[in-house]
Amino acid sequence: MTTQPVTDWAPRAQRLADLLVAHGDVHHPAWRSAVAGVPRHIFVPAAYQQDGIGTWQPVDVTSPSGLDLVYTPTTFITAVVDGGTHQEAVSSSTKPDLMLRMLEALDVHDGHKVLEIGTGTGYNAALLSHRLGANLVFSVDIDPELVHSARNRLHTIGFRPTLVSADGAGGLPEHAPFDRIIATCSVPAVPWAWAEQLRVGGKILVDVKVAREAGNLVLLHRHPDRLEGRFTARWGSFMAMRHHHDDTSASPHPRSEGTRRRTTTIPPHPWWDHRLVWLLAQFQGLPADVHIGMHLDPDTRKPTASFLSTPDGSWVAVSLTGSQGQYDVLEGGPTALWDSLERAHQVWLAHEQPEWTRLGLTVTPQRQRLWIDTPAGTSWSLPPRSQNRTGSTLGDLKPRPTISGRPASMSM
Ligand SMILES: C[S@@+](CC[C@H](N)C(=O)[O-])C[C@H]1O[C@@H](n2cnc3c(N)ncnc32)[C@H](O)[C@@H]1O
Repeated sequence: MTTQPVTDWAPRAQRLADLLVAHGDVHHPAWRSAVAGVPRHIFVPAAYQQDGIGTWQPVDVTSPSGLDLVYTPTTFITAVVDGGTHQEAVSSSTKPDLMLRMLEALDVHDGHKVLEIGTGTGYNAALLSHRLGANLVFSVDIDPELVHSARNRLHTIGFRPTLVSADGAGGLPEHAPFDRIIATCSVPAVPWAWAEQLRVGGKILVDVKVAREAGNLVLLHRHPDRLEGRFTARWGSFMAMRHHHDDTSASPHPRSEGTRRRTTTIPPHPWWDHRLVWLLAQFQGLPADVHIGMHLDPDTRKPTASFLSTPDGSWVAVSLTGSQGQYDVLEGGPTALWDSLERAHQVWLAHEQPEWTRLGLTVTPQRQRLWIDTPAGTSWSLPPRSQNRTGSTLGDLKPRPTISGRPASMSM
């Protein structure tokens, strides 16, 4: 893709800033000027968006329409790798509305020293540098090439924050303490190293996902002995934190023998429609290595059923079209995957259908607990069971079709 000099970005950036204010994503004037003052197109020289069936397609961000798109609240995947059977998105430029809501929720004040985990394109580091001055901004990414590119882009627009290539799970002890930490990749549990590097009274905003799509953004306050806080009202999701030693888990091979048929009243894809129940299901025996996806009709390529499967050959397909609140379920294999969802739904009903802000998290060096209403209320320990996470988790993206993994005898 050729890079042409772009001179007419400023009115577009101003329009984006005005839009975010109008939508209630931005309140503080300093954040409004940051959005208007940072050329986002510098940070997304290459971008991909999913087409109707979930394949990543390149977007020409130098065309006028591409440039218009860059200055809208849109997530762009900025790096895609070939994962063999599928494409894997490995970095993205987060939707500016989500980013700005997070920055406002983080309650950043002049003079604060901020650590970002997940530099990615560098756009967020640029917003922080505009807001605070680059000398107070620190950002770490596991991918040295991303850090290199982000540094060059930031230098192009005159910002020199401290960027480091390292596994952000360890924070950045050599530059601690920080007043605020923001993680733009999700974690299955909050690394205690972050608490150690945060001043008492400081805050961390992080996406806690105990499994794929299972969790939300949580704002944690640093107390002398713990981090504690509640999940945010609106749902958000980031790529999962990866580590240098990550393995790829075995692909599920759904077993077609012993297929069982029944109905359910739970929405067919709770990871999209009922995210809180999906989180609770992780504490009700849902295996950690569950894969989620959709069945597509082979002719129309339209989704017909949601699909869960695990490497032990267990699977469940739930029809997307229900009748009188009942959805057809087909399942097979040794583990009754959908039962965990139904138990979680019962828990959710028993607690009078809580919204996200009724859920909170307490983190100590020894233990992490998810609770409802108060830290002394009903709670569950994190991680729900041993973790084996792979792949990326992204907000507002379509699940990968799993048509190839469909058991031969299954029809729906
Ligand atoms: C959603 S992107 C971050 C977007 C970024 N804040 C921006 O403004 O463009 C997530 C980033 O987290 C990074 N990441 C994943 N695992 C990490 C880890 N263990 N430590 C630090 N960064 C990590 C990825 O390389 C990716 O660049």
